[in-house]
Amino acid sequence: MEFNDSTTKINLARSFAAECQAGARYQFMSKMALQNQMQFLSDTMKTLAKNEMAHAKVFYDHILQNSKGNVRNIAIEAGFPFEMPALETSLMEESKNETSEAENIYPSFARIARDEGFIEIAKSFEAISKIEASHARILKYLANLYSKKRLYKRDNPTEWKCSSCGHVEHSKEAYKCCPVCSLPQGYVIIDLEKELSSL
Ligand SMILES: [Fe+2]
Ligand SMILES: [Fe+2]
Repeated sequence: MEFNDSTTKINLARSFAAECQAGARYQFMSKMALQNQMQFLSDTMKTLAKNEMAHAKVFYDHILQNSKGNVRNIAIEAGFPFEMPALETSLMEESKNETSEAENIYPSFARIARDEGFIEIAKSFEAISKIEASHARILKYLANLYSKKRLYKRDNPTEWKCSSCGHVEHSKEAYKCCPVCSLPQGYVIIDLEKELSSL
């Protein structure tokens, strides 16, 4: 199958657009979090935004490499969300977007790419769908904690570390304000890797 006649070409362009927009929304969310003095949440969204832009680049490069300069413009028809609810709702909505990319959209684009003979592209869709699944888990976990006002409360004592000065305390609830550098609770790190692996 010629790349320029393929559905995969269109799917890559749609995915590129979706990743750029997710990257933009996550940067908006990162700013919102910062305005609420939630530095850790802001940093987390910044990292996810960086991941999405890297995914966008993978899809963009596949288009450039496979079209061999024959594609100047790709017309796509696709729907994208245009709303920016409060942070808590945004986290939950974005976790749903990530789940649908991870479980439906990218696996189906991978199958189509394989059927059309674009194995490397299929592998990218498969690898990125796994990353989106991990994004979905992070966002859902944070959304749940946030909605229950438990971002910094746990049932058992845990380690809380200030992302600014590195001060560490063991307690059920993180300090409201760092006793060393005085920055607010929003600077305290949530050990997502550890907490998600113990779910
Ligand atoms: Fe992504
Ligand atoms: Fe993602």
